[in-house]
Amino acid sequence: MLHKTKFPIFTKEECERIVNEAEDIASKIEWTKNRHGNFPTTDLPLVELPETMRFLRLALVERIYPMLKVQFGEYLPDPSKLRLADGFVVKYDAAGGQKELKPHRDGSVVSFNIALNSADDFEGGGTWFASLDDAVKINQGEIVSHSSALLHGGHGITTGKRYILVGFVILEGYDSWSMRFYNQVRNL
Ligand SMILES: [Fe+2]
Repeated sequence: MLHKTKFPIFTKEECERIVNEAEDIASKIEWTKNRHGNFPTTDLPLVELPETMRFLRLALVERIYPMLKVQFGEYLPDPSKLRLADGFVVKYDAAGGQKELKPHRDGSVVSFNIALNSADDFEGGGTWFASLDDAVKINQGEIVSHSSALLHGGHGITTGKRYILVGFVILEGYDSWSMRFYNQVRNL
């Protein structure tokens, strides 16, 4: 229910382009801080990031959905129906702003996050999972994917800045599946 790749799914240049576009747009419209109910993140949704959206549309089909099919396919009724329901770039900043995200469960079927900057840029960080009682750390361009229902949070950073691309993936046409998947893993 939790996977971490041993290789980058995005190149350094692809990651840098996403961060640059996000900071560029944020200098005009500012990072949003209230999009996700009880667990708000400092983020920019993909709809505000046209270049990233264009890139990700292809990357989802060519790289991310095929990977998720291999990882989660046996638990899903029709893995060909994987669709991104929400995607956004999150910024953690030790100098001010958001430093962590408290433990929570996402409302989708599968969630993923991709590290957009180098692990040398910050201390701490990573995705904390209750089932591991530990934070999973990844290098730039690598991806962590997990059942959305697993209790997880953004482990706090103590220095620097950390950028991630977060995606909430659902199964199109299987509206109740988030809840069924949730029930399978909620005690993990
Ligand atoms: Fe989450």
